[in-house]
Amino acid sequence: MNPRLVIPFHKIDVGEEEALAVADAVRSGWLTMGPKTIEFEQKFANYVGARHAVAVSSCTAGLHLALEAVGIQPGDEVIVPTTTFTATAEVVTYLGAVPVLADINAATLNLDPEDARRRITTRTKAIMPVHYGGQPCDMEEIHAIAQRHHLHVIEDAAHALPASYRGTRVGAISETTVFSFYATKTLTTGEGGMVVTNNEAHANRMRLMRLHGIGRDAWKRYTAEGSWYYEVLEAGYKYNMTDVQAAMGLVQLEKADRMSAARRGIALKYDQAFAQIEQLEIPTVMNDRESSWHLYPLRIRPECLRITRDELIVALKEAGVGTSVHFIPLHLHPYYARNFGYRPGDLPRAAMEYNRYLSLPIFPTMSDSEIQYVIEKVQEIVSSSTRSRVLAEATTD
Ligand SMILES: Cc1ncc(COP(=O)(O)O)c(C=O)c1O
Repeated sequence: MNPRLVIPFHKIDVGEEEALAVADAVRSGWLTMGPKTIEFEQKFANYVGARHAVAVSSCTAGLHLALEAVGIQPGDEVIVPTTTFTATAEVVTYLGAVPVLADINAATLNLDPEDARRRITTRTKAIMPVHYGGQPCDMEEIHAIAQRHHLHVIEDAAHALPASYRGTRVGAISETTVFSFYATKTLTTGEGGMVVTNNEAHANRMRLMRLHGIGRDAWKRYTAEGSWYYEVLEAGYKYNMTDVQAAMGLVQLEKADRMSAARRGIALKYDQAFAQIEQLEIPTVMNDRESSWHLYPLRIRPECLRITRDELIVALKEAGVGTSVHFIPLHLHPYYARNFGYRPGDLPRAAMEYNRYLSLPIFPTMSDSEIQYVIEKVQEIVSSSTRSRVLAEATTD
């Protein structure tokens, strides 16, 4: 086993500028939510083209607030793709509602609108498309279904900054969109998230609920313009962002386009290197969409290889290349199987694709030689593990 990864799965693109901005925030004497957070909200809203932005402690918190703001109640159903991180579905259960898992489109690995439509019942209140790896879902189709069945659309855009669908940036498409600033994401504040919406009532509700349900501008109560008096209007949550995080976020936002271009360049190099290798399948990006390339999900064609996806991951690790798998479909996890009765065959496309994909390193600071190293290792392992045609035909007889 290689004792150290030559190329880790992810390296943060956070440097001196962020360190100075964070130090300034610390020296300002105001650590928690304050003027930096408000500035970050405004600049972020402008960047994605939304009217309101509400900064929160994580994307998970933002998804929870978004569902609460649209009025999800116990017993309601919310449609979620099974190929996602558990956060997308777990927040539905926070409100006593039921996450209904839907299958994916095998080409894009995004929610299949047709499968989602089939799962709608009289209790369905919302649908949560997840832009897998940064490629936007088929939003026109999802909006058409949502309109027909009076569903709220809450986009889980944890991976999708910046990304666009038919020329419109993710964040300006649906009623509510939620981004993640977790350490591995395309813009990071360490931990953090942002909810954007054009609906003022929902924005106000989320602002209220992110800070204990305390009336307007609760964060100002310790400032010169604030007052000791406050009223608790609801049983809210502690989901606010801090100014230390926002200071980092403001620097990262300035760098967002450059970091995105770097990711796109890496994806292009991987595409060029792997497109002609018959044992591999490169990601399919529809021509009306632009991906943020948060992930580069490479798929194997198991019928052409003598090794499994898991064995490829081990071989890459031994060669010093870190990878990951996004995602183990939710319906295969004990919690969702036990509580909602899912069996592996219930969402067959997701279960099948799960065995074929792995995520390669893709981060803005990756050098050309690092990209080349990953390409060579993948090529070497794949070519030495190729199932010969004769063998493949003999075993399929
Ligand atoms: C698709 C998706 N949704 C939501 C989340 C949760 O984000 P956060 O860690 O900011 O709560 C993640 C995190 O990895 C994710 O991948």
